[in-house]
Amino acid sequence: MKITRTIDSRLKLIDFSDLPFGRVFSDHMLVCNYRNGEWQVPEILPYGPIPMNPSSQVLHYGQSIFEGMKAFKNPNNEVLFFRREENFNRLNRSAVRMSIPDIPKDIFMDGIDKLLLLDSDWCKAEEGYSLYIRPFIFASSNCIKASSSEEFTFIIITSPTTTYYPDEVNLVIEEHYTRASKGGVGFAKAAGNYAATFYPTKLANSKGFQQVIWMDSKEHKYIEECGTMNIWFRIGDKLITPKLSDSILDGITRDSIITLARDIGIVVEEIKVLVHDLVEAYDAGQLKEVFGTGTAVAVSPITSITFREKKMILPTAEDSFALRLKEEMQGIQRGKFKDAYGWTTKIISRDMIS
Ligand SMILES: Cc1ncc(COP(=O)(O)O)c(C=O)c1O
Repeated sequence: MKITRTIDSRLKLIDFSDLPFGRVFSDHMLVCNYRNGEWQVPEILPYGPIPMNPSSQVLHYGQSIFEGMKAFKNPNNEVLFFRREENFNRLNRSAVRMSIPDIPKDIFMDGIDKLLLLDSDWCKAEEGYSLYIRPFIFASSNCIKASSSEEFTFIIITSPTTTYYPDEVNLVIEEHYTRASKGGVGFAKAAGNYAATFYPTKLANSKGFQQVIWMDSKEHKYIEECGTMNIWFRIGDKLITPKLSDSILDGITRDSIITLARDIGIVVEEIKVLVHDLVEAYDAGQLKEVFGTGTAVAVSPITSITFREKKMILPTAEDSFALRLKEEMQGIQRGKFKDAYGWTTKIISRDMIS
């Protein structure tokens, strides 16, 4: 792999006490092109603009996928990745659906290792900080025919982040617009899935809601996800989350929370969640907690859910499942608790960076 280091790190210019999410990028990026039916040799170079023609296919047909994962520093100042194998597998599941060639495992893993060896100072060890890793692949043939691209570009960029604690997360159940449909691409991290949510989210924001709860596209009866998070309901002492389908993203945090919750004795059910059952549980005083999960937020408690004219204000649970599970997961991510699941890995540097 060719590595060109930056001659002027931007790290000294960054105010880590005021980090807006997703706007600050580390010094280096990895770029790898797919040409003539093969992934070429990847290259690491200083973060910066990439050459692109106006006819680049991604700009016309949105053939593009991405992943989102995090690295943390443990108390020994070593970089820990959390379940990155799962992100690798999901990227390639998305690739199949979007007619994008699989990315080889060594390009993905070695690329991340080498980037993190170069930019590990961008991952702060202090509580709350992490380095968000964004691998993505897009169609890069210069061709405006509506067909699958023949050339693709794989890039990894990284961005320092800190935990963001919103004051309130008020959700509204969206009954008109849908995020994903049966047979569609909702289970994939396809770029267009996100673009399609911006308008309904903007409408919800203008009415004072921070995020939208997405329902199934056919009957608008079943709850699927909220914003860009998987959603959880504590009804009585059971934890319920929508059963996976091709219109729900198979969250890696979701999977981790299921395992952690079961191991501390919480009953978890993955079922189809009817909105009317939720309202009934609320009216009976049984809806004790709602939270969302995802890489960016980890676990995010929900303040209220509005369904038509009804605003369901959620109580602050005394023995909050959300907070307990968040603590467990973050303890493992930061190497503070024993990782009984083999979820964390350290950098494996196959050849030293030169
Ligand atoms: C639509 C959607 N659902 C759920 C999630 C949560 O997935 P994960 O826990 O793997 O970050 C994300 C974020 O990646 C997402 O974009």
